[in-house]
Amino acid sequence: MHATRTKAPPFRKTTETFRAGAKTLSQRYFISPETFAEERDKIFSRHWVLVGHQTQIAQAGDYFTAAVAGESVVVVRDKRGDIHGFYNVCRHRGSQLIENRDGQLSAVIQCPYHAWTYALDGRLIGAPHMDEVPGFDRSNYGLHSANLALWEGFIFVALADSPAPLEKWFAPLAGKFSRWNLPALRAAKRIEYDVRANWKLIFENYSECYHCAGVHPELSKISPSDSAENDLTEGPFLGGFMRIAKGKSLTMSGNACALPVGRFGEEDSHFVFYYSIFPNMLLSLHPDYAMVHQLQPQSPERTLILCEWFFHPEAFKRSDFDPDDAVGFWDMVNRQDWHVCELSQQGISSRAYEPGAYSARESIPAAWDREYLRHIS
Ligand code: FES
Ligand SMILES: [Fe+2]
Repeated sequence: MHATRTKAPPFRKTTETFRAGAKTLSQRYFISPETFAEERDKIFSRHWVLVGHQTQIAQAGDYFTAAVAGESVVVVRDKRGDIHGFYNVCRHRGSQLIENRDGQLSAVIQCPYHAWTYALDGRLIGAPHMDEVPGFDRSNYGLHSANLALWEGFIFVALADSPAPLEKWFAPLAGKFSRWNLPALRAAKRIEYDVRANWKLIFENYSECYHCAGVHPELSKISPSDSAENDLTEGPFLGGFMRIAKGKSLTMSGNACALPVGRFGEEDSHFVFYYSIFPNMLLSLHPDYAMVHQLQPQSPERTLILCEWFFHPEAFKRSDFDPDDAVGFWDMVNRQDWHVCELSQQGISSRAYEPGAYSARESIPAAWDREYLRHIS
């Protein structure tokens, strides 16, 4: 091995056999309202969907509302510390209960219409004048719950009646990311991007660095675009790692901007790990921070992307903590990506578009498409 190169990567590269002849998806997958409705039904209403992180609602009464497959779900922490997910729908006459994106509730959820009142665990505990109604039983009118579970501190919701248990879904990743300390990390910043491109273009773009040298000159200087290696190459979890130049970090200054997020061996500090988690999460693990993209498809041509940067909780107390150094860097790279995704959306919408040939450096987008088609067809 060359003397200046770092040691072997912490995860083993998988030997991939690139499937020659792999092509991009046909046009309807990117522009058809019928396909979009089918995705909502077969993917986003059935699977575990990322909605947030447990540190967003650290105290009893803290809540946020999440949009999942066109539904509004209230995610709230109760007095015992348990996290619940409820449909944002009053059991009286159906009013939406909470309008704000996030906040803190006193000890109850109260409907703004006729003031029915629910405990933070969803029980109906107050319904003015309803004791005058013969046979009315409050215990029949608790909030409808949505399945909610945590993986590595991230909160997932599944609208299906009986989804596969979250632990089972994530079993292939058990322990894989434990050294990044994800449950304890805290977000320093969230940026919301409104991107004029189909959600699948975002996944396909994230899954390859064939475009990096041209689209991301700044990124490529710190993390060579030809250093990408993959260790998850088939299924709902895909990705791998790239090298970071020695002594560098993926920040504007090129320096580390915070304490390491976990206890790493020497070799981990020279790699950045990129994984896509079907169907709406992108997880980017750096030595000094984790970045998470949460995708919310709005229409065939539009995707809302929430991007958050997570740091070690102790980092926030230090004077040399500079999260903007990382945020600014990836905000720049994100926008470079969204730009080419929007160009793709435009071109794919043309009558001249037909599926194109994937290169050998696009084995992961091709694998992502295969996984997607397994769910949709
Ligand atoms: S609709 Fe909520 S109390 Fe009437
Ligand atoms: Fe990119």
